[in-house]
Amino acid sequence: MVVRMNARSPNPDAPLVDPFGRAIRYVRVSVTDRCDYRCVYCMSEDMNFLPKRDVLSLEELDRLCSTFVRLGARKLRITGGEPLVRRNVMSLFHALKRHLASGALDEVTLTTNGSQLARYAQELADCGVRRVNVSLDTLDPDKFRAVTRWGDHAAVMKGIDAAVAAGLNIKINAVALKGFNDAEARALVDWAHGRGFDLTFIEVMPLGAMEEDRADQFMPLTELRRGLEQSLSLTPSTYATGGPARYFDVRETGGRLGFITPLTHNFCESCNRVRVTCTGTLYMCLGQEDAADLREPLRRSESDEPLIAAIRTAILRKPKGHDFVIARAAKPAVERHMSATGG
Ligand code: 5AD
Ligand code: SF4
Repeated sequence: MVVRMNARSPNPDAPLVDPFGRAIRYVRVSVTDRCDYRCVYCMSEDMNFLPKRDVLSLEELDRLCSTFVRLGARKLRITGGEPLVRRNVMSLFHALKRHLASGALDEVTLTTNGSQLARYAQELADCGVRRVNVSLDTLDPDKFRAVTRWGDHAAVMKGIDAAVAAGLNIKINAVALKGFNDAEARALVDWAHGRGFDLTFIEVMPLGAMEEDRADQFMPLTELRRGLEQSLSLTPSTYATGGPARYFDVRETGGRLGFITPLTHNFCESCNRVRVTCTGTLYMCLGQEDAADLREPLRRSESDEPLIAAIRTAILRKPKGHDFVIARAAKPAVERHMSATGG
C-alpha cells in the first residue's frame, strides 16, 4: 500500500514517499569529494577540493544517515570521491552498525576504488558491511595507471583479495570507454565471473569536469553488448536491485552481468533513491539540477526536526524522471520556490 505524505505530515517518522508514490528506501551518501585517483572521466588532474568546514563532519554524517533511516531508508551506500580516504571514516561505519543490529537497516554498502581496501576490508565486514562495489575499468596495470592518472593496479588487486578473505561480496563496476577497454570487455567478464564477482558496465555519463571530449569516449553499451554476444549467451535476468542496472545471466560463465545505460535507457519509474553530497546537498535525481541544502538545518539545531522538515519538503520535488539531454539547461521553475521558502 502506498501512503501519500506531505511536508506537514503529523507523524515525524512517517516514511518518505515522493509525489509519484515511490518510497525512498535507498540513500547514497558521499563522505568526501577527495580521491587518491583522478580518473579521466571523473576529475581533472589539478582538482580543487572543498575546504573542510564545508564538508559534513562524521558526526553530522551519522545524524544525516540516521535521520534517513528513521524516515524509512533500508539501504545506505557510502560513496565519495573515495570514501576510504576520509580520515577516520571507519567511525561512521562503526556508528551505522547499530541500525543493522536493530534491523532498521537492511544494508550498508560502499563504492570504492579499492586502493585502501586491503587495510579496511576486515573492519568493514566487522561493521556489518556485506557487499562492496569496486570500480575497476581495466585489468591492465599500465592502462589502469593511465585511466586513474596514477593508480596502482596491484594495490586494488590486494584490496579485492582482502575483501574476499573478509567474506565480502564484490561487484565490479567498469566504465565503458571507447577505444580504451571495449576490446577488453570479454576478459573483464571472464575475470570477474571467474572469481565469483558480479560485473556491471557503466556508460560514461555527462557529469562533472572532464578534459577529454566525452563524445570520443562514449561507448554505447548496446555496442559493447553486441560484441560480447559474439562469444557469450546473455539472457535477461530477473535479478533487479531497484537501481539503474539491467542484468543478464551469462551461460558460459554462470555469472551475472549488468549494464547501466543512463543515456539510452530510462529507469526512473522504479527509482527508490536519493543522494546526498559530502556538503549535505540532497539531490532528488542524479540527472536533474534541483537540490536541497540539508547542512543548514543540520547545523542550525541539535534537534533533527528542521532536518526532517527539509528532507520532506525536498522529496515532494523529486522529479518523475531524469533527462540528461536537457539537465544543464534552464533551472526548473520550482528552484525559485525553493530559495523563497528556504531549506
Ligand atoms: N560516467 C560514468 N561513471 C562514472 N564514475 C565516475 N564518473 C563517471 C562518469 N562520468 C563511476 C566510477 C565508479 C563510480 C563511483 O562512478 O567509475 O564506478
Ligand atoms: Fe572518481 Fe572513483 Fe576515479 Fe576517484 S576512483 S577519480 S572517485 S571515478
